Amino acid sequence: MNERLHDAPNWLYLIREFDLLYRQGSAGGSKAIRAHRRRVRHATSAIIETNPALIVRDVQHQPVVAYLDRALDLGARDSLHSLSQSLERVRDELTWELGYSKISKSLSKRYAYTEVLGPNGPIESDHLILGFVLFAPNTTYPQHSHKDIEESYISIAGAWSENDNAVHAPGSLVLNRPGDEHRITTGDLDPCLLAYAWVGPAERLANPGMKFTAPLRKKKSEQA
Ligand SMILES: [Fe+2]
Repeated sequence: MNERLHDAPNWLYLIREFDLLYRQGSAGGSKAIRAHRRRVRHATSAIIETNPALIVRDVQHQPVVAYLDRALDLGARDSLHSLSQSLERVRDELTWELGYSKISKSLSKRYAYTEVLGPNGPIESDHLILGFVLFAPNTTYPQHSHKDIEESYISIAGAWSENDNAVHAPGSLVLNRPGDEHRITTGDLDPCLLAYAWVGPAERLANPGMKFTAPLRKKKSEQA
């Protein structure tokens, strides 16, 4: 018989950290962010209550995991240290993935994500995905959007920017509504570790169809 969430303290505390993260802190006066935070924590609390069976996944690494030690060291000294430590407790059980069907060789060495809750487990959920994404220093994560999926990133370690709009430090939350185009760049010196949440219809979360937005081709008349 499969182990259940409440029999696996490291996974349970990790999900409780997410629950706290979306329960506490400010929405910065944004109704949209407040509503998103509420959706995430309601779903998280319901999952904790139902005590789902854990899905056993194959442990999988990607080259960027070489930066995880540094990211966790940085995370341990900043505002989200509890979440960072909870991630460290399950680090030997994580499945790091690339997701995209088409990904450049250079990006496949500089980025990966790991889901901790979602349709594929390890904690099973239909309407919510929680995970972490790790970037090497000086990385550009190309432009993309998520159909029907509302996404938030919360910064644990490192400095990063989305669409060249601001520099985000540990504790920052960035919301991407369904269809919002976004592109991420990370700072020169340190890796960047973000927690993320995806909320959306079950069929979309089970099959998000990850692909980068094709760069717009210039019309002939616009070319130099
Ligand atoms: Fe995204």
